[in-house]
Amino acid sequence: MQAELDRIVSEALAVFAQANDSPRLEQDKARFLGKSGSLTELLKSLGKLDPAARKDAGAAINAAKSAIEGALDERRRTLVDDALAARLAQEEIDVSLPGRGRGRGAIHPVTRTQQRVEAIFRSIGFDIADGPEIETDWYNFTALNNPENHPARSMQDTFYIDGRDTEGKRLLLRTHTSPMQVRYARMHRPPIKVIAPGRTYRVDSDATHSPMFNQVEGLWIDEAISFAHLKGVYTDFLQTFFETDQLQVRFRPSFFPFTEPSAEVDMAFGSGPLKGRWLEISGAGQVHPAVIRNFGLDPERYLGFAFGSGLERLTMLRYGVSDLRLFFENDLRFLQQFQR
Ligand code: PHE
Repeated sequence: MQAELDRIVSEALAVFAQANDSPRLEQDKARFLGKSGSLTELLKSLGKLDPAARKDAGAAINAAKSAIEGALDERRRTLVDDALAARLAQEEIDVSLPGRGRGRGAIHPVTRTQQRVEAIFRSIGFDIADGPEIETDWYNFTALNNPENHPARSMQDTFYIDGRDTEGKRLLLRTHTSPMQVRYARMHRPPIKVIAPGRTYRVDSDATHSPMFNQVEGLWIDEAISFAHLKGVYTDFLQTFFETDQLQVRFRPSFFPFTEPSAEVDMAFGSGPLKGRWLEISGAGQVHPAVIRNFGLDPERYLGFAFGSGLERLTMLRYGVSDLRLFFENDLRFLQQFQR
């Protein structure tokens, strides 16, 4: 009997030592201690022995049983410890690594241009106004002296939206900031000195056009504001904005329905891949008498100038950027170059 018990115990120890995970170990346990395990079978056979032998055999079996249970417990603990150690090793955190940080963030270059433009015009007494991006046909076109059949109203240039205004005309995304001339002038008395920066929309897309872009409108209306004031104010603005008076700027005769005479302002790149190339940055001119009338003012008494400049264009020139679309792709490799 004792030899048999020794054999079972040493077999159990060997088997447990081989079990590499808990489920395996619990299965192995059944082979010895389970209902039909080898030790249990021996216990069942006790009944056949006479009482004296039964007592000794019982004690021997119990000793064997506690040896097996002891080995089982020890193996269980080892497996739990091993599993924990493996997990700790796998999930190890190197507390000496530098943190990921969050970066500092920065102002978008076009927003920075807008802020600079606002600061410059504020310093010479201009108010800053904001207005709706969804406009009526009247503010965007009619009030600005655009004839009913002007091609700018066509689907090609203008994004129309489903809604209609009180006259039943389709609403649109403003194609320029010029409607703000009318909105502002109708709410203020002369002298009127205002800039109105903001988003504008046109069906247009190439290296110097984007379907959404930013303009800044300027308007100065009083009793004796002339084209000469426009040239002086605008040239001064550019010199302050670009921080140099070494600029190549030209006022090129042009046409807008809402100004007469009209000009386009071009400026040459001073740096970057397009160095020396001209870029149109603004429309401008003496406000047309018909528009002054739509301001609710007497064109015999009031006159002045207006301009509408592209904020992306100014930004391109300032930083020597050759493609306007880069401003809207939000590629951090591009944007981070403007971080200061
Ligand atoms: N609104 C014109 C444009 O977007 C620019 C402009 C503004 C021209 C004011 C003259 C006066 O092209």
